[in-house]
Amino acid sequence: MTEPKKLFIKTYGCQMNVYDSERMAEALAGSGEGQGYVTTDRPDDADMILLNTCHIREKAAEKVYSELGRFKGLKAARPDLKIGVAGCVAQAEGEEIMRRQPLVDLVVGPQSYHRLPELEAKARGGEKALDTDFPEEDKFEKLKSRPKAPRGPTAFLTVQEGCDKFCAFCVVPYTRGAEVSRPADRILAEARDLVERGVREITLLGQNVNAYHGAGPGGDMTLAKLIWALDKIDGLERIRFTTSHPNDMTDDLIAAHGECEKLMPYLHLPVQAGSDRILKRMNRSHTAESYLRLVERIRAARPDILMSGDFIVGFPEETEEDFQATLDLVERVRYGYAYSFKYSPRPGTPAAERPQVDPAEADERLQRLQALITRDQRAIQDEMVGREVSVLFEKPGRLDGQMVGKSEYLHAVHVQDANARIGEIARVRIVSSGANSLAGERV
Ligand code: 5AD
Ligand code: SF4
Repeated sequence: MTEPKKLFIKTYGCQMNVYDSERMAEALAGSGEGQGYVTTDRPDDADMILLNTCHIREKAAEKVYSELGRFKGLKAARPDLKIGVAGCVAQAEGEEIMRRQPLVDLVVGPQSYHRLPELEAKARGGEKALDTDFPEEDKFEKLKSRPKAPRGPTAFLTVQEGCDKFCAFCVVPYTRGAEVSRPADRILAEARDLVERGVREITLLGQNVNAYHGAGPGGDMTLAKLIWALDKIDGLERIRFTTSHPNDMTDDLIAAHGECEKLMPYLHLPVQAGSDRILKRMNRSHTAESYLRLVERIRAARPDILMSGDFIVGFPEETEEDFQATLDLVERVRYGYAYSFKYSPRPGTPAAERPQVDPAEADERLQRLQALITRDQRAIQDEMVGREVSVLFEKPGRLDGQMVGKSEYLHAVHVQDANARIGEIARVRIVSSGANSLAGERV
């Protein structure tokens, strides 16, 4: 018997990429002659290296090229080693990757992962393999999956992909394509399968997840209808979803936050900026005021919901006054988590052509924003002390007899309890709040 081939995948960027990397590993496990691939966490041990790349910020393509350059020695030592680039940089750069870095054997865009076994065979045969098309079909349906391998207690599940919003700074509509929702029956089948394999919490993924409109039994579904259908799956205890756009927060979704017990009280709702002038230039089609009213309605439905968001500072033509409006909005919402980024011009997007803010000024604004966000985040975390939460245990902690899991608000919670089991949901009283996590005792 021959040794199974080994696959090393390095994943950059968002949770969608994490999910895609898992699916790619499963697809290659079943491919080719012999046993197919098993995954390894050591590149120097691998028969195939895949970089699953992200193009959303910074000099993404340049980073990929320098990472690829580092594999030169490996490839020289083992000519059989195949190197592939997947994800959004693959989509954006296409053939150019193989021209600039001849050691690359395979380039595959996010819409073509179902063709990975074929592409791998082609690369194995010594040819260059490339696919960055946008087919119409459901790529996940075509990906073969391993039989019923057990899973950890939490999982991601992609329900829609792509985006039609065209925010002026964002590459997603170009790299992931137009918005496509998967049919509900496939999502529900995948969810049931995950639950049979030990999953208790599912996070529904999509670049524009609340624009979900997949086909269901009585016509098109909404995300809220999909959540209610998932709610009926025995053994599934927690549902989350990310990332949402303010304009797609429908009434039924807001109501679900108040009524569906399995839907966790956490909502990632990026606003990007607090100045209407900048929001307009960003093509966000909501105002600061409409966003704040929306947050009020969501909190009316679920008063304890923890809000999280994304911010961009130093967007072209952002003045100090515009930036102040962002700080004001943050003060008013009080985010439990928020991710803030310095604007990075993405080639091919409208904002990349506009007058840029001085980078030193943008850095300074980013620091001020992050200080404010950290203050709120820390305060909200500290307010958990003395409260009872439910914790889904995910893995052992660093100390002996310690378990770590997430509360319903997505705070990491450590519990000292030798009897705690992975996958168990326990009532826990929070006793202290640290820099990035809480400590609690089982009630
Ligand atoms: N520059 C900086 N941040 C960006 N994001 C998206 N595009 C850019 C860009 N060009 C941020 C947004 C988005 C998050 C995923 O990344 O805040 O919500
Ligand atoms: Fe990008 Fe999100 Fe805007 Fe779509 S809604 S263009 S994914 S920032």
